[in-house]
Amino acid sequence: MEAMSTVGSERVAAVVPDVLAAIHEVLERHRVTEEEWYAALAYLTEVGRADEFILLSDVTRTSVLIDAMSHGASEATASDVEGPLYRDDPPWREKPCKIYGSYEGMGDGDVLMVRGNVTAAGGGPLADAVVDVWQTGPDGGYDLWDPRQPAFNFRGRMRVDEDGAYEFETMLPKPYTVPTEGPVGRYLEAMGQHPWRPAHIHFKVTAPGYKPLVTQVFFPDDPYLENDTIGAVKPALVRPVTPEDDHLRCEFDVALAPA
Ligand code: BEZ
Ligand code: FE
Repeated sequence: MEAMSTVGSERVAAVVPDVLAAIHEVLERHRVTEEEWYAALAYLTEVGRADEFILLSDVTRTSVLIDAMSHGASEATASDVEGPLYRDDPPWREKPCKIYGSYEGMGDGDVLMVRGNVTAAGGGPLADAVVDVWQTGPDGGYDLWDPRQPAFNFRGRMRVDEDGAYEFETMLPKPYTVPTEGPVGRYLEAMGQHPWRPAHIHFKVTAPGYKPLVTQVFFPDDPYLENDTIGAVKPALVRPVTPEDDHLRCEFDVALAPA
């Protein structure tokens, strides 16, 4: 009940009867049996025990729907789904900001320099913005899944310069599969839905007096751009990657809406 207390009781009273009416209508239409209903309840119990409700919301494209309804058209940079893999209190990265350390198996992935400017939507630079990023590397997925990687690998927060600029060194991420070994993996298999996401970098950008922006940046020519399993790709968030000296370069400017 604690989570419910964070939502106003008027909203609960307004929304829940419609949720129940929709569920009851589906149960009746499909003549769902007692056995099937208890199997469904056992499944949801398992999803909760495995802490996979956010993942379930993502792969059912429910998170994308909520994101779209929550952030309408504006001059701010397009938002996107956060996903379940943010880790609280990521390390602060000092200039020159590098967000990864070497690990066995990382191979010869491409070094990627990412830079951009944080501004107010339709306005000037935000000198006190913080850019927080997380991503997979060239091998092994997220640090959380890969014991070979140092803690908080491919994660970090950085403060922008006085002119709102940021830059960090990372490696070009690769497409990866969302976790499939738990109950959500069984859902994907039952639905014939593949588990792949296109390569991306997650961003959480904050500045005092502005709405926090959670988003993702994607790269062209990815085999999963058109069929991300969570359906989160927005054309405005696909950024070119260009060769520069001995590394790749990607530019991503961020505009924040006033709070
Ligand atoms: C992610 O991009 O980190 C992610 C999103 C949805 C489900 C799993 C992972
Ligand atoms: Fe991700």
